Parts: sequence; C-alpha cells; structure tokens
Amino acid sequence: MANGDLPDKVLLVGFMASGKSSAGKELSSRLGWDFQDFDTVISARAGKSISRIFAEDGEAEFRHLESGVAEELLARSDTVVASGGGWPAQPGAWKMVPEDTLSVWLEVSAAVAVRRASEQGPTRPLLDGGDVTERATALLLGREASYRRARYTLDSEQYGPLELADEIVKLIKEWTN
Ligand code: S3P
Repeated sequence: MANGDLPDKVLLVGFMASGKSSAGKELSSRLGWDFQDFDTVISARAGKSISRIFAEDGEAEFRHLESGVAEELLARSDTVVASGGGWPAQPGAWKMVPEDTLSVWLEVSAAVAVRRASEQGPTRPLLDGGDVTERATALLLGREASYRRARYTLDSEQYGPLELADEIVKLIKEWTN
C-alpha cells in the first residue's frame, strides 16, 4: 500500500460487551464509512436472534454462519467492521483479514464485560446462566492471544465509545503518515 493511503477498512475485535458495536457506529459516522456488525448480519440472514441460533442450531452452526459472513464483510472497503467476540479465536480467522485492514482490540476485563452484558439483557448465550464471571474469565483467558493479533489495542474501560472513536481516528492518521 502506498504511503499516505487510508486503511481499506477498520476491524474491531474484543470480548463480548467490549464496545465494538457502539464505538464502531460512532467511528463509521465520523469517517463517512459503512458500519457492519457480524452478529447483525448473521441474525438477519438466519431470520432469528443469535440466542435462538445457539439454542436451535448449536454453536458449531453459528460458527459456520459467522465464518461465511466474516469472509464477505472483510472483503468490503471503506467499512468499519465489528466482529463477534468469539470470531478471532476461530481457526483461520485472522487469515481472512487483508493486510490493509486497521485492526483494533478493544480490551475489557471479564468482570466489566459481565456487568455490561447483564445491563444489556440476555442476548449473549455464552454468558447465560451458571457462574457467569467464572465462565467469562475462562473464555477471555483462552481468547486473549487471538485478540492480541490485532494491530492496535485500546482500553475499553478507560474510554467510552466516543473516545474510542477519537482514538481510532488518531490511529488512522498515524497509519497515513
Ligand atoms: C460470542 C460473542 C457474541 C456473539 C455470540 C458469540 C462469543 O458477539 O457473536 O453470542 O463467542 O464471544 P458480541 O461480542 O458482539 O457480544
């Protein structure tokens, strides 16, 4: 890519409730780019909620749908893409990410993710029931290495969605210099 070019797209990764969708929407409106969210597209295609896909079809089928949607959305240009929290840890996921993608890990602790997710309601099957904090801690631990593959990391506890968008705009400026 020639020096001075913008990244082709921005990819946001991170654990559930790390703020990918809210920061992504804000960023896309600042850039005048499209915003795409894996889960929204998966759910629209399947004609049912993510929770129902997990309950009726199982996680393996969800991951299959997710992989197809990822391949498609990561081929877009001038787009801010929010992945699902589990996608970066799926085999082959990062191979789908083109070189000229500015990827950002929005980092959040398991405790804060669980608190935010409970405030947002029961939309996340992997955080439903049982000892949620224990499960989230184990999931996050298993996924951290895959999130770390993003080019940049931002602290989603320190920054709200508007500030995250500000920080990513700065990263885009750094990229183009
Ligand atoms: C998942 C995260 C969810 C959604 C699904 C599975 C995960 O997305 O894709 O419930 O495995 O962490 P969000 O990160 O947008 O909540």
